[in-house]
Amino acid sequence: MDVDWKALRSAAAEIAGRAYAPYSGLRVGAAGQDGNGTLVTGCNVENASYGLTLCAECGLVSAQHAAGAGPLVAVSVVAGDGAPLVPCGRCRQLLLEAGGPELLLDADGGPVRLGDLLPAAFTSADLDSRSHRDA
Ligand code: THU
Repeated sequence: MDVDWKALRSAAAEIAGRAYAPYSGLRVGAAGQDGNGTLVTGCNVENASYGLTLCAECGLVSAQHAAGAGPLVAVSVVAGDGAPLVPCGRCRQLLLEAGGPELLLDADGGPVRLGDLLPAAFTSADLDSRSHRDA
């Protein structure tokens, strides 16, 4: 499906305005859409106990499930200045499960495949083939 990257980036920029980032001062917004064009968004939420900080992508994936949206096909993550930001490593892993390696991420030079940003990723297939759960 066609992705309106300008609209997606602008939705991400708008939600970045609702971020709660008093500690780092870095507001982040994320917007994504599934194969039907359902739009979901999220922003970062920091905490005085720094390690509890939720990245914008965490809110995005939570909103995806809350909305009953399908796998994400396109995501834009931007900072408060409206320019794309590459997702942190943890969020690449989170997005992988939310959309798979073909998910496209907004970037300055044009969309990039998530699979190219997180090659050889750990997935549920590794659990299936390597775990030794007791029956
Ligand atoms: N942050 C995100 O929201 N997403 C990322 O992918 C990178 C970092 C947030 C977390 C924290 O609130 C602030 O940016 C500084 O790290």
